[in-house]
Amino acid sequence: MRIDIITVSPELIKSPFEHSIIKRSIDKKLVEVHFHDLREFALNKYGKIDDYQFGGGAGMVLMIEPIDKCMSKLFSQRKYDEVIYMTPDAKTLNQQTANKLSSAKNIIILTGHYKGVDQRVRDKFITKEVSIGDYVLSGGELAAAVLCDAIIRLIPGVLGDETSALTDSFQDNLLAPPVYTRPAKYDNMKVPDILLSGNFPKIDQWRHDEAVKRTKSIRPDLLSNDEDED
Ligand code: ADE
Repeated sequence: MRIDIITVSPELIKSPFEHSIIKRSIDKKLVEVHFHDLREFALNKYGKIDDYQFGGGAGMVLMIEPIDKCMSKLFSQRKYDEVIYMTPDAKTLNQQTANKLSSAKNIIILTGHYKGVDQRVRDKFITKEVSIGDYVLSGGELAAAVLCDAIIRLIPGVLGDETSALTDSFQDNLLAPPVYTRPAKYDNMKVPDILLSGNFPKIDQWRHDEAVKRTKSIRPDLLSNDEDED
């Protein structure tokens, strides 16, 4: 998979790609990530990329021309499956969306800043808009990093243990069950006997029951949710 990220702050977003699982997936050439500094496509030598909004109101808006220049360059080089815009005024990211995007070959992610982008950018280029939650960040860079992490770890070969993504929270609309490791007893707190029993069908049933219990208590909405993805 190739991910092209268009941003006004490349330095802000690079670090998550330089560590741990994401770095290893890049080293293993399972993913390529390219950062594009919007200022390199600015209208003038002062790096102008934003302007006041028509009709008045606080906050600057990213202009269409620099984004058009950057996108047109990328479109001339390859086809993209999705052109994603990170914004709080969109559907919230969920595991289904991450699953779907993890099978894409090429994607562009545009990160907003200030008051966002000129609506015509969204109308002309964007195929999918993604929010990472009902709160406003100072820019879309951290949100893009979250989206990339959620997608990249699902690409086959990225996680060492191939089954571990399948047992994550949300894969079946359930939160993950509790997990334990050694020691079996700590300060009078014992690991549930069933997990030490070696009876794997029963352990699977216990895990499922615990997942349902946890979901009912913390996220009952997931149980009634058919999870719309787009
Ligand atoms: N940009 C600012 N806030 C955001 C959010 N919650 N999700 C995605 N992009 C954003």
